[in-house]
Amino acid sequence: MAMFQEFIQQNEDRDGVRFSWNLWPSSRLEATRLVVPVSCLFTPLKECPDLPPVQYEPVLCGRPNCRAVLNPLCQVDFRAKIWACNFCFQRNPFPPTYAGISEVNQPAELMPQFSTIEYIIQRGPPTPLIFLYVVDICLEEEDLQALKESLQMSLSLLPPNALVGLITFGRMVQVHELSCEGISKSYVFRGTKDLSAKQIQEMLGLMKPAPAGQPGRPPAAQEMHFFLCRFLQPVHKVDMNLTDLLGELQRDPWPVSQGKRPLRSTGIALSIAVGLLEGTFPNTGARVMLFTGGPPTQGPGMVVGDELKTPIRSWHDIQKDNARHLKKATKYYEALANRAAANGHCIDIYACALDQTGLLEMKCCSNLTGGHIVMGDSFNTSLFKQTFQRVFSKDYNNEFRMAFGATLEVKTSRELKVSGAIGPCVSLNSKGPCVSENEMGVGGTSQWKVCSLNPSTTLAMYFEVVNQHNAPVPQGGRGAIQFVTQYQHSSTQRRIRVTTIARNWADVQSQMQHIESSFDQEASAVLMARLAVFRAESEEGPDVLRWLDRQLIRLCQKFGQFNKDDPASFRLSESLSLYPQFMFHLRRSPFLQVFNNSPDESSYYRHHFMRQDLTQSLIMIQPILYSYSFYGPPEPVLLDSSSILPDRILLMDTFFQLVIYHGETIAQWRKAGYQEMPEYENFKQLLQAPLDDAQEILQTRFPMPRYVDTEHGGSQARFLLSKVNPSQTHNNLYAWGQVSFAQVTSFALYKSLSCFNWRKAVIP
Ligand SMILES: *[C@@H]1O[C@H](CO)[C@@H](O)[C@H](O)[C@H]1NC(C)=O
Ligand SMILES: *[C@@H]1O[C@H](CO)[C@@H](O)[C@H](O)[C@H]1NC(C)=O
Ligand SMILES: *[C@@H]1O[C@H](CO)[C@@H](O)[C@H](O)[C@H]1NC(C)=O
Ligand SMILES: [Zn+2]
Repeated sequence: MAMFQEFIQQNEDRDGVRFSWNLWPSSRLEATRLVVPVSCLFTPLKECPDLPPVQYEPVLCGRPNCRAVLNPLCQVDFRAKIWACNFCFQRNPFPPTYAGISEVNQPAELMPQFSTIEYIIQRGPPTPLIFLYVVDICLEEEDLQALKESLQMSLSLLPPNALVGLITFGRMVQVHELSCEGISKSYVFRGTKDLSAKQIQEMLGLMKPAPAGQPGRPPAAQEMHFFLCRFLQPVHKVDMNLTDLLGELQRDPWPVSQGKRPLRSTGIALSIAVGLLEGTFPNTGARVMLFTGGPPTQGPGMVVGDELKTPIRSWHDIQKDNARHLKKATKYYEALANRAAANGHCIDIYACALDQTGLLEMKCCSNLTGGHIVMGDSFNTSLFKQTFQRVFSKDYNNEFRMAFGATLEVKTSRELKVSGAIGPCVSLNSKGPCVSENEMGVGGTSQWKVCSLNPSTTLAMYFEVVNQHNAPVPQGGRGAIQFVTQYQHSSTQRRIRVTTIARNWADVQSQMQHIESSFDQEASAVLMARLAVFRAESEEGPDVLRWLDRQLIRLCQKFGQFNKDDPASFRLSESLSLYPQFMFHLRRSPFLQVFNNSPDESSYYRHHFMRQDLTQSLIMIQPILYSYSFYGPPEPVLLDSSSILPDRILLMDTFFQLVIYHGETIAQWRKAGYQEMPEYENFKQLLQAPLDDAQEILQTRFPMPRYVDTEHGGSQARFLLSKVNPSQTHNNLYAWGQVSFAQVTSFALYKSLSCFNWRKAVIP
């Protein structure tokens, strides 16, 4: 157990991979019986300070339908200068540049510590990064002012040679020309009529004028500068003028009468942004950044009409099939998202408003392209301002934490096939021998496109064991998986990151205990949660919960120990003991329970859950509660109402919210001002401690969480009360911080077991 934990940690640090099982069952039937599929969370661009990229190209296996990359698992004959592919067993000669290799002079990619390695590809011209701002001008004055300032500030954060462009929209859509000659004009489009990519490109003059009798054509590369001048300019050339232009933006001049919503042409604005990039920079890293303060109200992609008396759709309307625009709008944005994805462009949505803005319909724009979704109440909040700044944050090499246009390819040894992926990706429909027919998530392919990713972007990958029960994988062997991620680095270099991992096969009959202790319950909880949320997008809520319960019951039937007819004797081993508790919290989470949230909120929560790394995902499933008191150092406590005590301060982190809650006595002392008296310095420190810890979280989290500082009886205490278990018992047992974390969790396990009475189902 301890051994596996160390192994799991090492693998995560080095390769950004966490598997559900770290020993693999040797037949398909046995794998199915383990309930949680052989699967992993994979973070393709995990930041690894010990991973200096190499400046040459990877060596590929020569077999045409394999093309696996040379890696530490390959057998090498140094004398004959030949390597055997560990995926297809083809014997390949080394390229001539490897003539000097020997046992003592090995290239990095053969060394075991380089199971993950990154190659810099020198081919091809450098391509600039592109940022296209699409700005709603139907905002309230305060929001527009704040947004303008944020946008102006962002110009100073962009790489100087990045190209930048501006589209604004209200009732009309304006594409602003950022002229080299200093003449500033714009092209105006009606917001009601959909245009094809070709029409947009023609109207913007992006087609070269045709010689008589010939149709227009897209520009050739050397003609590109001509177009660059007009709509997309290098930041360093136009930042002064663009700063002025942004400063002069006014609210939409069209009057909005009483009882109406402003007319917002979000659908056409996005369509023009996508069409503009499609025509000028296909297959180049680009970010469309949509800033909006309300729902699309006209034209294709409209989500609600402009009559205020007709409210925007709720979950209730959707259930009653009473959401008039939902299907049509969703389809419209899906088509746009697929076009953007095909060109490697991503779309971010920054939606700030008190009411819904149509994220439910528009979310696929970001989901399919790897874009960000940020949701806030107003653009004039630190939540938006700081989150937006963080989009441009840099790593320890002073390089942007953003990468573009990635393709992720999976190769498996022949005992395995890949069933699918869940994350911010689209299928590239690449069939091949390692693609399973049983799809989980986005399947039927061994390659996915991820248009934008950052170091925390994490995909869930699901696999299937091929071997039948009567012909299991022989003992002693290892299965292997290779992830090949090709992407455009923020420095605009092309890079290829290759991760090759292997796990031992195990016979379920004779090695059950080993398999059990190789179980990674944290990874498994997140992997099953992604499957559940993926289902929830298309299935009814209760059906998804039933599916989840059934999986949990089966797992416990398989691994639980109990005396017959004695439910209280039920036990799970240490490697599974937390798992039911994760499922318990997942069932209650906003990812599966929609009725306390608006459709936009549910979309927002799910969007982030489907892309975060393991640690952040676990916080989302089971919020963390810390207690601060005079009775000892800060410590984690049960997410239970029994943890709320008068002389404690609690800090709760749900990922989306950070809540500091002062117990009744603490709140009274604070009101009385004890913290200002020198003799109560320790009280002052106690008040400060959770603030410092919260600050640390606020500084790194993306998006910024909502920060709530409240106390016993405060109106915002509901943020805490809605998350804790409503129990009032066992107070004395768990008071005063004498419990260890292990006790806390096993207690919670006990409670979660009794929660939905499934012990009955487990014990015959
Ligand atoms: C933004 O909010 C701050 C603090 O609430 C306020 O002082 C400021 O005037 C607001 N900005 C605008 C443009 O209204
Ligand atoms: C910026 O604007 C000024 C006049 O306002 C003009 O002279 C100058 O050429 C412009 N520069 C660019 C790069 O457009
Ligand atoms: C993202 O898109 C995929 C593919 O269309 C869909 O199946 C999945 O449910 C979406 N996820 C979210 C969180 O919207
Ligand atoms: Zn091969």
